[in-house]
Parts: sequence; structure tokens; C-alpha cells
Amino acid sequence: MDNYTDSGSFVRENVVNEYSRKKENPYDLVLFLQRKLSNWYKTISASTVELRNFPKRVIESAKTIQKICMEDYSFVVGCIHMSQEVNYSVKHPIQTAIICEIIAKELLIESDKRLSLICGAITMNMAMKETQDVLYKQINQPYDDQKEIIYNHPALCINLLKQYGVEDSLWLDTVYQHHENANGYGYPQRLKGRRIVDTARIVNIVDHYLVGISARAYRPALLPQHIIRKLYAERKDPIDKRIIFSLVKTLGIYPPGTYVKLKNNELGVVISNCELEADKPIVYTVLRSNGKLPSSPIKRDTAISEYTVVEVIPPDNFKVGINPYLLWGYGAFKQNKYCRRKFKRVKTKIAATIIEKKSHLKSEVVLINMSEGGCLIRAERGVANGINIDSLYYMDMTLMNKVLKNIQCRIRHYKELDGAVLFGTSFVQLEAGVREFIKMFLDRAYTTI
Ligand SMILES: [Fe+2]
Repeated sequence: MDNYTDSGSFVRENVVNEYSRKKENPYDLVLFLQRKLSNWYKTISASTVELRNFPKRVIESAKTIQKICMEDYSFVVGCIHMSQEVNYSVKHPIQTAIICEIIAKELLIESDKRLSLICGAITMNMAMKETQDVLYKQINQPYDDQKEIIYNHPALCINLLKQYGVEDSLWLDTVYQHHENANGYGYPQRLKGRRIVDTARIVNIVDHYLVGISARAYRPALLPQHIIRKLYAERKDPIDKRIIFSLVKTLGIYPPGTYVKLKNNELGVVISNCELEADKPIVYTVLRSNGKLPSSPIKRDTAISEYTVVEVIPPDNFKVGINPYLLWGYGAFKQNKYCRRKFKRVKTKIAATIIEKKSHLKSEVVLINMSEGGCLIRAERGVANGINIDSLYYMDMTLMNKVLKNIQCRIRHYKELDGAVLFGTSFVQLEAGVREFIKMFLDRAYTTI
């Protein structure tokens, strides 16, 4: 899972404009992207207006989604799971793109390929907006004319995209194949197994997941656990299983935004997952056991037996009004650094070598702070020029006289400070032994502060 390694303002110089304008609140940025998509739909419906620079505009939005996922993934995922409002045809592609980016990162898919994936997710249903909104509210099964539109929409979408100047073959394949199924029962080409591009498989699985958690006129919203279990049972292909596993790993057993009942009879909302113990999320109580509202949400660590999660409550049955901004610290005040960090962090001064996975280029750096999720590294300006944001690295260091080698990590952000450059870095898929050793180091360092 991608962890936030530092809550400071690590923003790249070439950050896209829309992100810079609104980066203080990722969810508002999601709403902004939805409005943008809605405008594209209107332009397409008018059909007389030209969509200038369409591919560039979608790519800009895809980059913004990548930034949102880095900024505060728990908040955005939480809002997705709590969101039950309409505007489905606009909301769904953006939400799909966000979850696709999160699990594609977990699957270590490269940034460029992820951009094509996100662009595909954003534009996958562009040719059937009206039908999608009608189906969302419809109690009956699709009628014959609707079935025809559904069957044809992948082809119609790629024709539209080509008309608007999209040439990226992976983007187009992702859209054209996003309803194919490895068992050969998908559409429109009934492709099997490896003939389907991985990006289309990711979109397909995330699409199914989000359709499931969203209420329909003919059924209430289903629980995330229920959908994941169903998907896992239905999908036999190993690549699909891997994607579903990554979905579980990144969202957790209780994704942020899940409504739960605690052992002490309080009702709350999951705020974030604990990567080490997926069944013990951090919850904010929003209704006390005596049925009264607390003056402000109360943080509960469900690893403590008194606050164990005993029940997941479907969104339709959860009748407590909640302001998600308040839960994630975006209410009256900007979220503070302490709230945003998942792990305790200690100051360090550890020499380390990082080796880029692709180019094998070595850089000597210093770890200036560390948590279980990652570290902040300092590099002299000359060295920093060779370090690439979003790339995977192996890190070697000595910790408490023990040599640790090949710790996989990803460089997330940077900022310049006092003639040097600081890089926020996430650990990626730490081996259990290394994780435990780092945890032990942090526990010892923390108690001596
Ligand atoms: Fe679709």
C-alpha cells in the first residue's frame, strides 16, 4: 500500500495547474474533476462544439488523480465509500480511475502505463452517459434497445476518442476491452485470458466493485467485503486474482468510509487502515453507545479489545448525519500533520545508498527521519539531479549494526531546503523480517525521545 511519508508540501515544480489551485483539499478536487467530465459530456452531446486538446486535457486530469492518491488516499477513498448521491455517470468514472490508480501502484505498474489506465477509466463510458443514468434509476432489467447500447458502447467510445485525437493504443485498448472477461464471456470481442490487456482487467474489476457498493433503484448498496468475496469466487484467472488481492490489500478489509459497530456498542466510520493488521482499522465514533452524538467524533483504535469491530453496517441503514470533511480533519481547520500521519516517525541520521531499479544508478543519501511506512531522505543537489520522482529504488543501510539490503522503496515527492533536496519515500512491500526490525528500531528510538 502506498503510504504517505511526509505531510509537508512536497510539490513538484511542474505540478499541473488544477492540482496547484486546489491541492489543499483532495475531495474538492474530485468534485472539480467530476464537473469537468460533466462539461465534456455536454460538449459531446452538443456535437457541434469541438473538444480542443481533448487528450491533453484528460491526461492532465489523470495526473491530478495521481496527485490526489498521493496526497490523502484515505480521505478520498473514504468519501467514495460514503458517497451515495446521484450523478452516477459523472461520479463513477472518476471514482473508478482513483481506485485503479491506487491498486495499479500496488501492482507496481509504471507511471506512464498508469496514466493510460486512468485515462481509460475516465473515458470508458463516454458514449453511453444518458443510458447509464437511466439504468442507474431503473428497477427493471435493461430493455433490448438499452442492451444494444451497452453492448456497443466500448466500440462507440473508442471511435469518439479517436475522433477527439486520442492515439495512445493502451488507452484505447483499455476502453475497448473494459468489459471483456478472462473466461471469454465478456464483450464485445469475447477475448480470453492474456489477450485482454492488464489495464482493462483492472478497470473491469474496479468497475464491478464500485457498481456493487453503490445503491440501485432495485437493490441497496452491497458491502465491500461481500463484493470482494463474490469477485474472488467468480474470477478464476490468476491475473484477476492478483488484481483482487491488491484491491483488498490497498482498501483493507474495512475500507475507509465503512460504517461499523464497535464492541462497546458505539457506531463509527473507518478513517484509515492499519497496514500491519488489516482487521484493526482506525475508527471515529459518531454515535455513543447511549445513542447520543459526541460533541466531535472520537478516535478509536480497534486494536484495543474494547473497540473491536463487531459489525459492518450497510450505508442505507446508517442514519447518522456525517460531515466527511470533519472526520478527516478538513472541517473548520486544515488537517494537521499529526492526524495525517499513519505511523509514528523518528528523526534519524542514517547514511544509505539508493539504487534505481531500472537504471541501476546509485546515489548516496542520508535518512533524516523514518516511519514504518517510509522515510525522508536528504541528498546534496548534485546527487539529487539523478534521483527520479515516482521511480522504484532499492535501499541499503545499516540499522542498529545490522546491514539491511534491497529495501524496495518509491520516491514520492521532493522539496528543496538549505541547498539540499529532501525526498519523501515510501517503502514498498517490505519483507516481514525487515518490517519487524524497522518497527523495533522505531519503538526503541521513540521511547528514548
Ligand atoms: Fe462500460
